[in-house]
Amino acid sequence: MLSEYFGIDRRIVFDHTIDGYAPFVSLNSPHGSCRIALHGAHILSYIPHGTRDDLLWLSECAIYEEGTAIRGGIPICWPWFASEGSPAHGFARNRVWEVVRSGIDENDDPHITLRLEFDKETLALWPYRFVLELDIFVSKKLTIALRAKNVDEQSFSFTEALHTYLNISDVSDIRIKGLSGCHYSNSLDGKTYLEEGNITIDAEVDRIYSDASAVCQIEDSGRKRTITVYKENSLNTVVWNPWIEKSSGMKDMADGAYRSMVCVESANTAPNYITLSPGSIHEMRINISHKNF
Ligand code: BG6
Repeated sequence: MLSEYFGIDRRIVFDHTIDGYAPFVSLNSPHGSCRIALHGAHILSYIPHGTRDDLLWLSECAIYEEGTAIRGGIPICWPWFASEGSPAHGFARNRVWEVVRSGIDENDDPHITLRLEFDKETLALWPYRFVLELDIFVSKKLTIALRAKNVDEQSFSFTEALHTYLNISDVSDIRIKGLSGCHYSNSLDGKTYLEEGNITIDAEVDRIYSDASAVCQIEDSGRKRTITVYKENSLNTVVWNPWIEKSSGMKDMADGAYRSMVCVESANTAPNYITLSPGSIHEMRINISHKNF
């Protein structure tokens, strides 16, 4: 059915590789390819032409079970970030999304739109009627738009994140640029600091940067490439690496795997709540690209 309605020869291909689990879809552009799990509208992989290595990191121990978030790729945190509610990072990443549109543009680049709507279960967790859509465009860049619409009769507020796991050669070989001059709240000690200069990582990092709408660049000297995360309508950037101790307690992360990932998340976190009145829409947009050097 999905293939019949939304598949496009070689460009948009559905598969059902895990029994009892939601389907996956691959978007193949002449400029790169992307793989998405309908569980969570979760982008798992994006490989633009011109690089052998995925721009996204996906855990080799990721768990593919309904109701469990996949470790890696781009989990969608909505309608709350972190532990503002339960489950952590909201319910959107734990539910199966439907496909509502697909197509190819004049350059043969494919796109798809996935949707999650309120139902009895979401209302029990969060008492508002919403429609959430994710547009994914695959080209020389991976472009993603997360759009929330209030279809309730009352206003609601939410926080959100595109919890992007980036694939790096080694955590000691990267520098994150674009956050210098921003204050961050350090989740490890609850204090606020000013970022001065580029970020390097040599221990656990869990920070929420404020007034951080700028582009971030992850310069990877090991792989000799820079990954750029450009964003719109996102005031916060979260930088996270669990390091040794925390990752060893995570059953969906292999030993040492923390070295090959860093999360640079485009977000709107508390107190930057997005408030939507009935009928209104908010869209956060990012694109991810790379350049070799
Ligand atoms: C980050 C948070 O965004 O996500 C961290 O800042 C958290 O505190 C991490 O540990 C992973 O969360 P989860 O729920 O996917 O394990």
